[in-house]
Parts: sequence; C-alpha cells; structure tokens
Amino acid sequence: MNGRPIRLTVLGATGSIGRSTLSLVDLHRERFELVALVAGSDAAALAELARRYRPQLAVLADSSRLAELRERLAGTGVATGAGETAVREAAAAPADRVVAAIVGAAGLLPTLEAVRQGTVVALANKECLVCAGQAFVEEARRHGSRILPVDSEHSAIFQCLLAGRRDDLERIVLTASGGPFRSWDLARMARATPEQALAHPRWKMGAKITVDSATLVNKGLEIIEAHHLFGLPEERIEVLVHPQSVVHGLAVFCDGSLLAQLAEPDMRAPLSFALSFPDSRLPSGVGPLDLARIGRLDFEEPDPRRFPGLAHAREALRRGGAAAAVLNAANEVAVRAFLERRIGFLDIARLIGRLLAHPLADAPLSSIEDALAVDREARLVAEAELRHLDAASSTREPPSPC
Ligand SMILES: NC(=O)c1ccc[n+]([C@@H]2O[C@H](COP(=O)([O-])OP(=O)(O)OC[C@H]3O[C@@H](n4cnc5c(N)ncnc54)[C@H](OP(=O)(O)O)[C@@H]3O)[C@@H](O)[C@H]2O)c1
Repeated sequence: MNGRPIRLTVLGATGSIGRSTLSLVDLHRERFELVALVAGSDAAALAELARRYRPQLAVLADSSRLAELRERLAGTGVATGAGETAVREAAAAPADRVVAAIVGAAGLLPTLEAVRQGTVVALANKECLVCAGQAFVEEARRHGSRILPVDSEHSAIFQCLLAGRRDDLERIVLTASGGPFRSWDLARMARATPEQALAHPRWKMGAKITVDSATLVNKGLEIIEAHHLFGLPEERIEVLVHPQSVVHGLAVFCDGSLLAQLAEPDMRAPLSFALSFPDSRLPSGVGPLDLARIGRLDFEEPDPRRFPGLAHAREALRRGGAAAAVLNAANEVAVRAFLERRIGFLDIARLIGRLLAHPLADAPLSSIEDALAVDREARLVAEAELRHLDAASSTREPPSPC
C-alpha cells in the first residue's frame, strides 16, 4: 500500500454483502474513499447510504426511481444516475477495488465493466462465473484484472493455497452448513414454506442465496465458481456438510495434509481479506473463534436424494457449454417462483432438472454475448416449464392470504 486511500466501488451496496462491506469502511474510514455505490431499485436505502458515506456517485438500475434518488440526495454533492448504462458507467469509474455484490446474473455486465478496467474485483456475485465462466475469466486475464473471492469457502481455499505448492494440491473441500432442512425428510421438505427456507441457521444473507443454501444449489454454484477460480476439474472439488459453519474450506495436499481456514460465519472476515490482499490483513470486527465453546466439529456427506441441486450443478459443469448458464437461469426463475408461492420447495431442483434436459443446455457458449443470450432464452423456457410444474405440484403450501 502506498498510503493513499483505496478508491472503492460497491455494486449491490444496499444488500447484505454491500452493507457488510460498508461496515468495514466504518472501521477503517481513513483507508477507503468511496467512488460509487450502486443498487437495484431501493432509492431510499441507497440515498441513506450515500448521505452517510459520501461517494462521488450513487446509481440505481431502476430508472423509474431516479427522481426520488435525486430528491433524497439534493444538496449533498453526490452525483446520481440510473438505468443499465449508468450502472455500467459507475462500475467502470476509476477505482482500486470493486466489490461485485449484485445478486444474480444481473451482476454479470456491471462486474465485467470493472474487470475491463483492469480493476481488482472482490467477487461475491458467483452467478457471473456460473453464467459466463471461461469467457469471464479470459476477460479478466486479458485486462489484467485480479479476481479475489468473497464467498467464504473460496476465500478459505484461496488462503489455504497461499500456504502450499499448487503442484502438491490433490483436491479442495467446500463446506456447506446444510441449511435449515439438513435433517428434514423429503415429505416435510415438499411442504417447506418460504419463511422456513429463509430461516438460515448460521448465516444472515439476502433472500436468493438463503434459498440457494436451503436447496444446496448454492453449493452447486460454488463448485462451478471454484472450478473457474482455481482451475480444478469437477471431480477434485468435494463438498462436505459441516453444520457448525466455522471451517469454510480445506485444501488436501499429496502428503495427506489438510489445510483449513476457520472463522466465525460472518462475511466481514472474507470481505476484509478481499479488500486488503496482498497487503496486511485488516481487522474486520470479527472476533477469533472460541474453539472450546464450539467443542466439536461435525462433517457429513450431503444427501443426493434430498438435495439433487448439487448433482445438477456437477452435471452442468461436466457438460460445459451453455449448461451452467441454463442451470443458473432456471434456478433464479425457480427461486423467485418459490418465494412468490407459485411452486413448492422441491420444485426448484425439479425445474433445474427439466431445463438441463432441454436442448438449450447443449448449446455452445464461447463469449459473454453467448452467455447473455442463453440466460435470456433459458428464463423464457423456465417460465414456460413452470406452468407444467404448477399443474403437477400437489404438495405446495396454500398461498398466503397476504
Ligand atoms: N449474503 C452473503 O452472505 C453472501 C455470501 C457469499 C456470496 N454472496 C453473493 O453475493 C451476491 C449478493 O448477495 P446478497 O446476499 O448481498 O444479496 P441481497 O442482500 O439480495 O442484495 C442484492 C443487491 O443487489 C442489488 N441489485 C439487485 N438487482 C440489481 C440490478 N439489476 N442492478 C444493480 N443492483 C441490483 C440490490 O439492490 P436493491 O436493494 O435496490 O434491490 C442489492 O443491493 C449474490 O451473488 C450472492 O450469491 C452473498
């Protein structure tokens, strides 16, 4: 570090990761200078953050909320913008680090803008890598952009790999909490409500990733993410359920040694690493683990029968081409439909399975444009398939009266 503040942009500033990032800025005000804060449509929340952190720029994706944002920020000197182009321009504004924390495939183009500036990108938005994997990584290489993982598991693996030779690495292990339905039987899972799926036992996160954690699709997305981040084939990426969620990832070396990274389940820890690496670690406000209090660490194999989303992700990764982008789009459509009580919990993995059986999943994919086209098409197919599920599903909870 040269003593100058780190110019920081936060994409998805109003979300769970965005707010955790800003809480690190609170701890180290002198270390950061905010360039841009970007959100989707919550003008009130973005304006409140902009008033507090005074970035140069506050931008919403939803242009219908621009007038409200402007009004709320009048007299602050913070420039405002809205719409897709404004979001991309904000992502491309000169910065030293960009935290990419927009949820879903909507984060792909803004994150890519940051990558194309050669900026260091602290990547929370795993869907970028799932949708556009190889093309995204090649863009980063071409523009000299370093991608630092924010996902706790990938941050753990990244840190473990700093302690061992890459040639000696046999495989990696991503841990999963198992989510709220870890010990539920299938009949009970079929009746699970959005409220139950959103009650994660360990992590506080946005709604989409919380449902992904309940289906274990999140871990499937993370297998694909790990493949692209660490260049490992699917069969060398293992998943273990670890309900205490304090061991985030392990690297297994050829001499039988396992290196693990442990920390409280609090995203400020991996975020602070991604904001500071390769300089000295930043205190994150997360205290060290009290291992005596935790007492024991349990590990178990995930159950493929109750959590088929994991096998779907492995299949998509092995098949290559458009399969992972199709899986991601199907999952996003299905999670939204589940949260809107249009389908049951088990229908999420069912819809993904149907989409993977669609010819679109066999399409080649060699560019970001291909990935975006596949994403659009897969969402249309998924919406159409939802109607079949609507007809077939009899295990759903009745719609909520509100
Ligand atoms: N939360 C975690 O602990 C965690 C851990 C690891 C990885 N991740 C990953 O990090 C990403 C964000 O997760 P999250 O839990 O922070 O989600 P979240 O709480 O739902 O926040 C999503 C953020 O994205 C913004 N957004 C939504 N659509 C947008 C668009 N079209 N353009 C610009 N901004 C948009 C939202 O703005 P509005 O508020 O205006 O809607 C909000 O700021 C996801 O990819 C997730 O998988 C999260």
